[in-house]
Amino acid sequence: MEITFGNSTFLLIFSLLLCMCSGCHGCMDEERDALLQIKDSINSPEGTAFSSWYGEDCCQWEGVQCNASTTRVSSIFFYYRRDSLLENWYPNATLFAQFKDLEILHLPGNQIAGFTSPDGNHCCFTI
Ligand SMILES: *[C@@H]1O[C@H](CO)[C@@H](O)[C@H](O)[C@H]1NC(C)=O
Ligand SMILES: *[C@@H]1O[C@H](CO)[C@@H](O)[C@H](O)[C@H]1NC(C)=O
Repeated sequence: MEITFGNSTFLLIFSLLLCMCSGCHGCMDEERDALLQIKDSINSPEGTAFSSWYGEDCCQWEGVQCNASTTRVSSIFFYYRRDSLLENWYPNATLFAQFKDLEILHLPGNQIAGFTSPDGNHCCFTI
């Protein structure tokens, strides 16, 4: 009985620690990967426009905000980051679909003309 009690206490503490650690990590892996792919596909001049987009915790990145309780990305906003000499941009809709808690997506001045749907077609301007 005592041993069982000890084990469950240990488990409780262990899972609490685990929880706290994923909390300080602060960013879902699949959402960070999607953001990095968006960064790659936007072709900003010299890549400098997203200088803060590196590291583990994408919630700390410029123009990215997370929901504090879910640690999921809740808003993404960046303006005029795409090289204006490039043609229209059709971001991959699959990437944006990773953000389950996304509430605000504000990307003016990036020549977005639509989204690329999973079948590779340029698609309607809805998300
Ligand atoms: C965070 O997410 C929770 C659960 O989806 C939601 O109820 C809450 O309103 C969100 N908070 C903010 C600040 O958006
Ligand atoms: C969109 O992104 C997904 C996930 O990374 C990838 O599997 C897919 O090939 C991409 N589609 C296009 C058209 O680039």
